[in-house]
Amino acid sequence: MSEHVYNLVKKHHSVRNFKKENVPEEHIKQLIEAGQSASTSSYLQTYSVIGVENPEIKEELKEVSGQPYVVENGYLFVFVIDYYRHSIIDENTKADMATSFESAEGLLVGTVDVTLVAQNIAVTAEDMGYGIVYLGSLRNDIERVREILDLPDHTFPLFGMALGVPNEDENGSPKPRLPFESVFHKDRYNSDKSVQKESLDKYDQEVSDYYKVRTNGERSEVWSEQIAQFMSSKQRLDMLDHLNSSGFIRK
Ligand SMILES: Cc1cc2nc3c(=O)[nH]c(=O)nc-3n(C[C@H](O)[C@H](O)[C@H](O)COP(=O)(O)O)c2cc1C
Repeated sequence: MSEHVYNLVKKHHSVRNFKKENVPEEHIKQLIEAGQSASTSSYLQTYSVIGVENPEIKEELKEVSGQPYVVENGYLFVFVIDYYRHSIIDENTKADMATSFESAEGLLVGTVDVTLVAQNIAVTAEDMGYGIVYLGSLRNDIERVREILDLPDHTFPLFGMALGVPNEDENGSPKPRLPFESVFHKDRYNSDKSVQKESLDKYDQEVSDYYKVRTNGERSEVWSEQIAQFMSSKQRLDMLDHLNSSGFIRK
């Protein structure tokens, strides 16, 4: 095996601090092509990617996300689940397709398709020497994002991605991931809580040590604490309404 891809993906960390250097057009084209080479469920290709260059549009999206790197980057992508073109085929062929793309399965297919495209782009961008960060924060106000980007019915902005050349003082590093035994199950799911508990204790300690070193002792929270805090804050509970009004999960 060539170690190249393995080493590249193992080096990943989100970058939130970019040089003021635009990503050239030819790289954007290559990135989109790399994205489009991902597998796609039943050849449906239920995605669009919006490349945002206009500084005013970036500024408006930053107001939604609250994160400065939505503006301060080399390039900004917004990844969209897209059944708009399928709805045009439906109109043209009168094939009764809407039940499929308005179903929960339609949403799952679109979500997976978009994500595979985005991750192909992320890995290719990192191979080109860029850093990336995904931006789920664009879902803070779906209606506003739909307005800003002129999104038609049967499309849904799933997340954004900022990319660019990492700044010299960008000092992120790969964050430890869950232990192998915690995420990998042989043949059948192992729901033995003591196995998960043992892995989690080990991992909590590893994450706490990681933060202590990275922040000179300022942070030391364990992973379980971080996750409990985040998930108990119950964010974006209005997503089903936004999906419905965008033409998803109507059946
Ligand atoms: C779908 C998705 C949405 C994300 N949204 C944001 C975001 O809005 N802002 C942000 O700073 N990071 C965001 N992230 C980055 C995660 O916080 C990051 O991947 C995670 O903490 C692991 O860190 P790492 O990427 O450095 O390994 C997002 C990641 C994913 C996959």
